[in-house]
Amino acid sequence: MAARTRFKRLVHVTACDSTQDLAQLDEHPLPSAFWAEHQTAGRGRQGRDWSDEPGLDLAVTFKVPQLSLENPICLAAAVPLSVLKALEPQTGARLALKWPNDLLLGGRKISGILMDTLGQAPETYLLGIGINVNRTQFPSELFETATSLALTTGREMDRWELVLELAIQIHDTLDQLERNERAPLEILFGERLGLMNRMVTLRAGSSTYRGRMVELDFEGLTLDDGTTVPLGLVQNIAPGQP
Ligand code: BTN
Repeated sequence: MAARTRFKRLVHVTACDSTQDLAQLDEHPLPSAFWAEHQTAGRGRQGRDWSDEPGLDLAVTFKVPQLSLENPICLAAAVPLSVLKALEPQTGARLALKWPNDLLLGGRKISGILMDTLGQAPETYLLGIGINVNRTQFPSELFETATSLALTTGREMDRWELVLELAIQIHDTLDQLERNERAPLEILFGERLGLMNRMVTLRAGSSTYRGRMVELDFEGLTLDDGTTVPLGLVQNIAPGQP
């Protein structure tokens, strides 16, 4: 990982509350990865829990110190694409993106991403990635909505290889964003969101918008009535009739 990416350290622990906290408390200045075999208080977005099967799944946080980005929402959009690129060769299947932070396989969630920031600009970013890797059973509340790599492929995955591939993809994506080479990422973003030229319902702040989505990039999206909504304000987008 150190040879191929900017992540020069991998901190691998048996258990912790959350790798986001592990990363936050760590004082080493270099970009680093924090991987826990089990999180006792894994966090999802909006105060939700994130659960794992100890020793079977992947809970990892990539800490990127002092990153200068014109528009940080680009990172929120691009990191799920990095995870998607790391996972697809393993599955041989096409993954879908559900804005803002879910990756779906066959309509079921296989990965979730949580992005925290520390300090003032240029901020330090904590890119937290949870992947259902080798577990083959889920609690009843996730039974119909979640899946794993092992369930999809029928074989056990090497999680070390997966952590390395994630580091490579995130590294390459950060390089692209730093060079402002957004176009290929934005194309993939539109493809995997799968909502272009479709009727959508989206929620942004206290407003709900409905219409056909005619433009989309990392800045925002436009509906067929001309309404433009900055991507950073969009809480969710779903296919739906106006
Ligand atoms: C979500 O789907 O709401 C986001 C889930 C993010 C889970 C990952 S696992 C590694 C990192 N540590 C956490 O506590 N959460 C993220």
